[in-house]
Amino acid sequence: MRIPMKRLILPLPGNEALAAALAKACDGELGGIETRRFPDGESYVRLHGDPHGRPVDLVCTLGRPDAQFLPLVFAADAAHDLGASQVTLITPYLAYMRQDKRFHEGEAITSLSFAKLLSGAFDKIITVDPHLHRHPTLQGLYTVPTVTLQAAPLLADWIATHVESPLIIGPDEESEQWAGAIARRIDAPHAVLAKTRYGDRNVEITVPDLSAWRHCTPVLVDDIASSGRTLAVAARKLVEQGLGKPECVVVHALFADDAWSDLTPLFSRIVSTDAVPHRSNRIALADLIADALKRNMQD
Ligand code: R5P
Repeated sequence: MRIPMKRLILPLPGNEALAAALAKACDGELGGIETRRFPDGESYVRLHGDPHGRPVDLVCTLGRPDAQFLPLVFAADAAHDLGASQVTLITPYLAYMRQDKRFHEGEAITSLSFAKLLSGAFDKIITVDPHLHRHPTLQGLYTVPTVTLQAAPLLADWIATHVESPLIIGPDEESEQWAGAIARRIDAPHAVLAKTRYGDRNVEITVPDLSAWRHCTPVLVDDIASSGRTLAVAARKLVEQGLGKPECVVVHALFADDAWSDLTPLFSRIVSTDAVPHRSNRIALADLIADALKRNMQD
């Protein structure tokens, strides 16, 4: 009887810990990817591990997508070329999800363009809480099969364990999907604020009357913290309403530029999942992704 070959799990730089955890959980073989820059700035990519005749998983969270993209597709292409039976991208944070329409004449709809490029390079994509807004599922954008995992239960369980009498608050209408799911799981009240965005770092937020919840600990939850403006404005508005200093729990800790130092004085605590490596990471996603990978192996 032929023993099926183990899947080969290959981390792009910075994704070694998650890849090792997945290889262990799925009894896969952990390989490696060597990348460097040639003197002219082009990328060198070499796979360590033999893809021939077996499924290959490339692990790469896309917190710096422009710099990561070419080495990633070169690695995927090499895996196909070296005989992989299927090449899957495991990307806890899937970038380029927010420009999902042409807001101004002539703009690129980069969520569609990025989806086209990744769909051309991979046979399957597994991710966690992609920013789905005008497209209710990834299948509206991606032409290859996708698996969308939800971190809300993990966020909810962290809040239930660490925060007394939480009031779950989403800073904008889009965050209702996370705020509502978290609140339902731990039987907590929740509210959603209204946001208008005027620019990358310019948002206005209005808060409904939350005076009935002044005895609760406000917990702002969101999928992405990028410039941090959404969370900063929301936190100030809650305090103006007489609520206590809020806690903050996010899925994808991008914290661009000075976001982290701007936000820390406004919150009693800021925590995130490890979808994007950051000092705020407290909620591990390895088991959630490993379970999906094991289910995926049975497909
Ligand atoms: C978008 O609506 C998302 O849910 C986040 O609220 C947003 O991406 C956060 O961006 P920033 O931190 O730049 O305000």
